[in-house]
Amino acid sequence: MGSNSMAILLYTLLSLFVSFISVFLFRRTDRRRRRLPPGNLGLPFVGETLQLISAYKTENPEPFIDDRVSKFGPVFTTHIFGEPTIFSADPEMNRFILQNEGRLFESSYPGSISNLLGRHSLLLMRGSLHKRMHSLTMSFANSPILKDHLLADIDRLVRLNMESWTGRVQLLDEAKKITFHLTVKQLLSFDPCEWTQNLMKEYVLVIEGFFSVPFRIFSSTYRRAIQARTKVAEALSLVVMERRKEWENGENKNDMLGALFNEDGNGGGFSDEEIVDFLLALLVAGYDTTSTIMTLAVKFLTETPAALAQLKEEQDEIRARLGKMEGLQWEDYKNMPFTQCVVNETLRVANIIGGVFRRATQDVNIKGYAIPKGWKVFASLRAVHLNQDNFKDARTFNPWRWQNNSNTGPTSPMNVFTPFGGGPRRCPGYELARVELSVFLHHIVTGFSWVPAEQDKLVFFPTTRTQKRYPIIVQPRDMSSFRQCKDSIEAK
Ligand code: HEM
Repeated sequence: MGSNSMAILLYTLLSLFVSFISVFLFRRTDRRRRRLPPGNLGLPFVGETLQLISAYKTENPEPFIDDRVSKFGPVFTTHIFGEPTIFSADPEMNRFILQNEGRLFESSYPGSISNLLGRHSLLLMRGSLHKRMHSLTMSFANSPILKDHLLADIDRLVRLNMESWTGRVQLLDEAKKITFHLTVKQLLSFDPCEWTQNLMKEYVLVIEGFFSVPFRIFSSTYRRAIQARTKVAEALSLVVMERRKEWENGENKNDMLGALFNEDGNGGGFSDEEIVDFLLALLVAGYDTTSTIMTLAVKFLTETPAALAQLKEEQDEIRARLGKMEGLQWEDYKNMPFTQCVVNETLRVANIIGGVFRRATQDVNIKGYAIPKGWKVFASLRAVHLNQDNFKDARTFNPWRWQNNSNTGPTSPMNVFTPFGGGPRRCPGYELARVELSVFLHHIVTGFSWVPAEQDKLVFFPTTRTQKRYPIIVQPRDMSSFRQCKDSIEAK
């Protein structure tokens, strides 16, 4: 072989080697780029569901997430509730998942929940109809509406409920009554009456059905819930029919049902069935969440006396200015800075909605991981809120952390604080919930002092709640001494 052919051979070999290395490296990086997050799928069929449930049945479910995050990082693969699932404890990843709702991901509820919600509930809607109905819901719970008339209703109904409180009070039950009656008022303009009491009895059974996991369809609670759903739907249908007649005669009310009559559906108006499903889903979405947050705020405050004292001082001043009977005004609500710190901190620590399930509608590559089409994804809000990197002493209830917080800028905790989710499915009731909570706190601290009636503890499965529904012994407070003291200070 001449030196020329030798050079050509060497050149060819070198080129082949370089191409081979490039392809190999590309494949490796591509594989790496497209790899599933690391993790453990656990046992066949059950996966890691049992470990998750037993952790969430205790007061401290954090080790379930902490262990996996320390082993695999903030995005890991697991197998829960019957499916392989990508679990995200990463704020950036969560934001990506929430923002890409309807494009790369869609919300995903099991069939048993869909049966209870009804096909036409907002939680199950997709696409342009979802967009329209989401903004319609927002328009019924936003600041102008709250300021205009909802605040007055909330104030009146919270007060009405608390009027009957004496001795031992099962706080979670009372908070549930309050939120149920508030929502019925907002949806249908009904004040508490025999009809609403009966509706609530059936409705409570429907709610129990949601949480009879993991083997919903086989449980008697679930079957009872389905029957109760039929009764609730029938009761609502009668109201819808009556009100439709009124609407056809040119009468309408300024409530959610009135707004639904005015919407034109898919061009032809909504059917009664569609309206009933929609109303029922709104009842479900705001009921357990807000009432549990109310109860937990009181529990956390009871366990943090300095915070309770500061909250009382803020609310006592407002009450002293208003006098005993006058209702709270919008300006009063806007002038409760420490109460808002308590609300934020309760939402952060309690994490009523611990995270949201989504399903990838196509292959998604994010942060070097591959999420295959059809896979379940769980964006854990809880893991982010309780991470020490995001919040100092993250596992301690500390409402003062929200003081002097500018709420903007890249290092603000607000950037990773998402108790109401985000993106197109961000909770449309977020402002309503804040107002309800603030008014509730105002009336409980100005109206009563209390002590826990029994030891009670927080659990997180099947939902976040206290085991004994937080029983307390209440005593009406006499505000007159506070007012006299304030008057004498002001007179000086
Ligand atoms: C403290 C109280 C509340 C919390 C923590 C809360 C939290 C959330 C979260 C995290 C989501 C997002 C779910 C997802 O992305 O899949 C959501 C959705 C929703 N929330 Fe709330 N919520 C609260 C109160 C309320 C209230 C009072 C209402 C009443 C209007 C409400 C109505 C809804 C509805 C209708 C949705 C579904 C939105 C959609 O799918 O487009 N929520 N909520």
